[in-house]
Amino acid sequence: MAVYQATASAPVNIACIKYWGKRDTKLILPTNSSLSVTLDQDHLRSTTTSRADSSFEKDRLWLNGVEEEIKEGGRLATCIRELKRLRKEVEEKDSSLPKLSSYAVHISSRNNFPTAAGLASSASGFAALVASLAALYQLPASPSQLSLIARQGSGSACRSLFGGFVAWEMGSKSDGSDSLAVEIAPREHWPDIHALICVVSDDKKGTSSTSGMQRTVETSTLLQHRIKYVVPERMKAISAAIRARDFEAFARITMQDSNQFHAVALDTDPPIFYMNDVSRAIIALIVEYNRVSVAAGGKLKAAYTYDAGPNAVIYAPKENLKEIVELILNYFPQAEPFKDPFGLFGAGAQGKLVEG
Ligand code: DP6
Repeated sequence: MAVYQATASAPVNIACIKYWGKRDTKLILPTNSSLSVTLDQDHLRSTTTSRADSSFEKDRLWLNGVEEEIKEGGRLATCIRELKRLRKEVEEKDSSLPKLSSYAVHISSRNNFPTAAGLASSASGFAALVASLAALYQLPASPSQLSLIARQGSGSACRSLFGGFVAWEMGSKSDGSDSLAVEIAPREHWPDIHALICVVSDDKKGTSSTSGMQRTVETSTLLQHRIKYVVPERMKAISAAIRARDFEAFARITMQDSNQFHAVALDTDPPIFYMNDVSRAIIALIVEYNRVSVAAGGKLKAAYTYDAGPNAVIYAPKENLKEIVELILNYFPQAEPFKDPFGLFGAGAQGKLVEG
C-alpha cells in the first residue's frame, strides 16, 4: 500500500523592521510591511511531518508530541484547507494522481527551542507546516505563493519560506493576494553578518503577539504615525543597506525600529512591556560598545533587536562576534548566548516527499 508522507523543516526569522498590527485579523493582513533575516542554524528550527491516508478519520496535529486541537475556522484549519484546495486543482488537471485532497492528514511538528519565548516559534512552525503539506501534495507553488498561506497561520511565518533577507510586502488588496513574502537578497549575498541570540528568559511570554498587536491597533496613536510616516521610508532604506552590504545603515535602522516597536507597545492601553531590566542593560552595553568605536573614528559594530519578549538578538559582522560574546558574558555571567553561524546555504523552508 502506498504511503504518502513528507517532512519539511523551517528556520526562525528575526525582524529588523517589525510587523505589529493587522488591518484584517482573519486574513492576517498587516498595517505595515516588514523585513527580516532568516536564521539558518540547526538550533532554531521547526520540523514537521505530514501524512495523508484514506484510513484517517480527521485532520490531527501534534506539537512537540502533544496533540493540539484543530479548531474549525482557526488558523491551522485555514492553512490545511488552502493547501488541500491547491492539491485539488492539481488533481483536476491530472486525473492519474492519487486523490490526496480527499484524505485526512496527520501532522507532527517539533521545535528544537522553547515555544513562545519570543523566539518566533509560530513563524518557523507555520512555515514548516505549509512546506511539509506542499511537499506532500507535490504542489508546483513558489515560496512567495506558499507565503500567502503561511501568512494566514501566523503573519511572521510568511517570511520563513525564504532564507536570507526577506520582506513581507503588506499589499493593498482586500483579499490579501498581494500580501506576500519576497526575497531581498539571499544569504550568500552577505555572509559576513551573523546573529547572536541572548536567551534572557525562556518563560512563555505574558502578552501574545496576536492579542498585543490588536490592542496596539485599537489604542495607540503612535502606531498610526509609525505606519504612515516611518515604516515606508525604513523599508526602502534598509533594503538599500542590505543590497549595498552597508552594516552601518543596517544597524542604525534595525535598532531604531526595535526601539519604536517597543515604544508603540508602551503606547498601548494598557501598556505592554516585553523587555525586562536585563534586556535594557544589554541595549546600554551595545550602545556603549558602538559609542566607543565611533569615538575612536570607527563604525557601528553591532545592532540589537527585540521581538515580543525579553531575549536579545544582536546582529554583527563576523569579526566582532568574539568580542561581543566576551563583553556580554563579562557583564551577564548568567546569560546564555548561543551563536548563530547562519549556515552557508540560507535556505528557507524546505520539504521532501517520501513515497513508499
Ligand atoms: C514582534 O507573527 O507572531 O515578532 O500574525 O498574530 O501570529 P500573528 O503574530 P506574529 O507576530 C510577530 C511580531 C514580532 C515582529 C515580527 O516578527 O515582525
